[in-house]
Amino acid sequence: MATQNQMSGLRIVIIAPADALDQDWITGLQSESSVNVLARVGVLQRGIEAVQQHQPNILLIDRPVEQIEETLSVAYAVAPQTLCVAVLPQQDMAAVRRLVSAGARDILIKPLHHRDMLASLRQVVQMEDARRQRAGQPALLALQQRKALGKVIVVMGPKGGVGSTTVATNLAVALKHVGGHDVALADFSLQFGDVGVLLNLWSKHTLHDLAIHYDTIDDGLLDRVLVPHASGVKVLLAPGEPELSADMSGVQVNAIIKALRSRFAYVVVDCWSFLDEITETLMAAADQVLLVTTPEIPALKNSKQALEYFTRHGVHKDHVALVLNRFPSVKGVTLQDIQQHLRHPVQANLPSDGPAVTYAANKGIPVVQSHPQSWVAQSFLKLAAWVAGDTVETISQGPAGAALPTLAEPKPVKAKWRLGLRKSGS
Ligand SMILES: Nc1ncnc2c1ncn2[C@@H]1O[C@H](COP(=O)(O)OP(=O)(O)O)[C@@H](O)[C@H]1O
Ligand SMILES: [Mg+2]
Repeated sequence: MATQNQMSGLRIVIIAPADALDQDWITGLQSESSVNVLARVGVLQRGIEAVQQHQPNILLIDRPVEQIEETLSVAYAVAPQTLCVAVLPQQDMAAVRRLVSAGARDILIKPLHHRDMLASLRQVVQMEDARRQRAGQPALLALQQRKALGKVIVVMGPKGGVGSTTVATNLAVALKHVGGHDVALADFSLQFGDVGVLLNLWSKHTLHDLAIHYDTIDDGLLDRVLVPHASGVKVLLAPGEPELSADMSGVQVNAIIKALRSRFAYVVVDCWSFLDEITETLMAAADQVLLVTTPEIPALKNSKQALEYFTRHGVHKDHVALVLNRFPSVKGVTLQDIQQHLRHPVQANLPSDGPAVTYAANKGIPVVQSHPQSWVAQSFLKLAAWVAGDTVETISQGPAGAALPTLAEPKPVKAKWRLGLRKSGS
């Protein structure tokens, strides 16, 4: 029989009606530390995509019977290991029969308490594991452990001050918030790392401790070194003294990233602007690079150079997403000009919000927590949803529900002239 420990980390996708995504049993499941709700969706097609993408242990469907029936057959086709469990509004023998013959592994009847549900879901997994054992197949969670390497998201600003650390900290907290994932945030901006300041965290244990014990990193060491943030994100702080990072090698960096990605669904890395061995190692390990820039010529010039450098060093273009911070900007260049000049699409923009971002930085609270309703916080949440694999519009020229800001003409002639100058290689 599976132990509590073996059962931890149950990976679940939930499909519910679009207007009933915040039912108590759903939020209850999301708050359980032994459950990883990978996606909670109100659109059937999106739900199937999430099942295909995440290959969860359990798909929970709370929809009308006909829709559950249809979804089951598609879900089993795209994710054969996933166990589908249906949720019905009331006892209905005819519906139960239909769903059982369509392949539902259990049928839960409302009203539901998430703890009871969890017990039922664990039982479903245990039964399946017992069957798999008889058939000589590996247990479901063992399968998951083999492929559950976390995604490494490296955030880099090729010019200091463009917002790399602001993006990394808010993205990590937003990833935890939107998906309840296990998230680590590592400050590889080694000499003057300020993740700790932005999150109001301090510890005498830092990345340096992992670097010196890089070949013996285990759960105990990580527990001592990672600092828990109130959001649930675990933070690896940069060394307290700049000289401590002097001799860090790519081998050490790789060992640290490997240890983190085997324990966390997402490892968000903030790094400095140098393209040195440390950054190169991080880039090579990254599933996704977020290149942060602002709509100003010096930052754009560096971004173009960084993109060209990535191409030369084998970082695949598809792995690099441009994040345009502090855009739109009254005096900045246009989105079209930026994309043309960089020859790379802008994946997301984050508006400038001096008062909120400065308040947040000074208080040591990420803006997604201090001002969750602000346009900039909403943009971070959308960026996190995109990083987590959701299809979401991440470019916005104005706050949700508000009129678009009237931007003064961004002096396009001068901006184009300067971009053109660089483009022609002079
Ligand atoms: N979207 C934004 N709106 C307003 N201020 C911002 C925004 N993003 C970053 N800042 C500010 O810009 C400065 C540099 O940000 P930071 O994240 O430290 O950049 P980097 O890590 O690239 O050096 C900080 O003072 C920060 O508060
Ligand atoms: Mg920084």
